[in-house]
Amino acid sequence: MNGPLTCRREGPLRGTIEVPGDKSVSHRALLFGALASGETRVRGILDAEDVHSTRRAVEALGASVRADGDELVVVPPERLREPGDVIDCGNSGTSLRLLTGVLAGVPGLAVLTGDGSLRRRPVRRVIDPLRAMGASLSARDGDRLPPVVIRGGPLRGVRHALAVSSAQVKSAILLAGLSADGETRVTEPERSRDHTERMLRGMGVPLSVNGLEVAISPARPRGTRVDVPGDISSAAFFLCAAAALPGSEVTVRGLGTNPTRTGLLDLLEAMGAEVARADEREVAGEPRADVTVRFRELRAGEVRGELVPRLIDELPAVMVMATQAGGRTVIRDAKELRVKESDRLAVMGDALARAGARIELFDDGCAIEGPTPLRGVDVRTRLDHRIAMSMAIAQLFAGGEPVVLDDVGCVATSFPSFFALLDGLCAGSAPAPGRGRRR
Ligand code: S3P
Repeated sequence: MNGPLTCRREGPLRGTIEVPGDKSVSHRALLFGALASGETRVRGILDAEDVHSTRRAVEALGASVRADGDELVVVPPERLREPGDVIDCGNSGTSLRLLTGVLAGVPGLAVLTGDGSLRRRPVRRVIDPLRAMGASLSARDGDRLPPVVIRGGPLRGVRHALAVSSAQVKSAILLAGLSADGETRVTEPERSRDHTERMLRGMGVPLSVNGLEVAISPARPRGTRVDVPGDISSAAFFLCAAAALPGSEVTVRGLGTNPTRTGLLDLLEAMGAEVARADEREVAGEPRADVTVRFRELRAGEVRGELVPRLIDELPAVMVMATQAGGRTVIRDAKELRVKESDRLAVMGDALARAGARIELFDDGCAIEGPTPLRGVDVRTRLDHRIAMSMAIAQLFAGGEPVVLDDVGCVATSFPSFFALLDGLCAGSAPAPGRGRRR
């Protein structure tokens, strides 16, 4: 679905769904599978534009990827080869930053670029530590922005302390560490998502985690089986709406519940929503559960510190939910929101304010006073999938008035079945589970 879309739905949201596979885990399965010895079989991979970008990239580096029933099989080359052309990562920051780490150690020249959104996102955060490892890299605008040019070669292990918690930067350094001489260590101020650590360990890589420090020694991962859990960042739109819309109850089956990703569930509980987990289990190193969220009168919440990296991608949806909670919800320490697919603080702040929300913006967050009924609004989605989906959810609180999104093509980067699932939940038809589909 491309181009403009007028959203006009009514709640409550009711039903049981599955959401598509986790985007972070999907990227890693393809990329680490391409680095491995032996094939990697992936079940439940996200079928969306961002992951297609990573797939094309690993194919350009010599891996082959094929479907086998409901699995995707990644067959690595003997060794990764210099790509024959510029690699276009589309909208995907994870593809670009993780690939930069991999390519730093692959002999030859590589150029990584992306769409208009990605070419505005910072890359110095990966360039500086990789240079300290001996890599030769440069980027546009004084090494600030893509395209990134990498001349891969021998690397040495370093100790690097990240100024800002970032799983992408941490992963880029760890991936470079796989081919470095000696040990590589990374520390973060707060723990970011640890899918890289879990998957590499499952692939036999010597990697240890000590508090906020991760240490890795050079190794070639072994091919493995990956079973991708449902993406909590996709489910978040429905969970936030269900928590705030009277009469709602939504269950998401097989949802990823890795503790580095479940900040939203903690926040929902703190704000007074009812959150229940059933059938908790761990498959292929990643925990998951069936998660139900039921409406309750919400009170204001507070988001800061270590909670922030655990729900960073969910904050646009949280901002919508906060407009319906009683009191002043405060979000701080979230400056990173300004360098996502768009400046999410500015774009959500503007859209919600025009929709009637009482919102004050800070450099690193915002304060939202609720509850406030919203009204219809026109929104520019700015190549940012999470803006489009958050404002589609905001419409549910707009008293039947429409929210007009100027372009919803971006939704395909992470969640092509979003509108179909939302329609099903609004109809309260309790659609039978099917990865991102109603049956
Ligand atoms: C991701 C890490 C986060 C997140 C992004 C996916 C990952 O970015 O926002 O959507 O898969 O490692 P940062 O590492 O820049 O915080």
